[in-house]
Amino acid sequence: MIQILKSIPFFAHLPDVDLEAISKNVVMEYYPAGHVLFSEGDPGDKMYVIKSGSVEVIRGQAVIAELGTDRFFGEMALVSDGPRNATIKVKTDAELLVLTKDDFHHLLQTNPTIATMVSYEVVKRVNQND
Ligand code: CMP
Repeated sequence: MIQILKSIPFFAHLPDVDLEAISKNVVMEYYPAGHVLFSEGDPGDKMYVIKSGSVEVIRGQAVIAELGTDRFFGEMALVSDGPRNATIKVKTDAELLVLTKDDFHHLLQTNPTIATMVSYEVVKRVNQND
């Protein structure tokens, strides 16, 4: 698992001690095209990094974004402690690394690089969705 994490930019720069801690809890999940991971309005307890494949981000009836390899999603409900602001549907068969809310918050608190990357992305996404 550590080698897998090192191959993904989101985790790649983390020191081995952090990678070891994350590798104990991170889970790899596989979903086929068409699978709905969660829906707008659901409570959120996990965030996801795409190892391969792609997903659609859907608000109302509209596909507002497509995210592929190395992108992440599901962070906004965890940051805001609110509901999912979009539905996520798998577009092409996907391998996803899944982090719990606690692990995600721990990562933000202990890794400025990840905290910066996530906060920039959240601001961009909020602005796009206005
Ligand atoms: P969350 O609100 O937890 O669940 C839906 C996810 O869709 C959200 O987190 C973001 O990860 C993602 N998302 C929302 N808006 C956008 C956007 N404009 N571009 C890319 N991803 C988005």
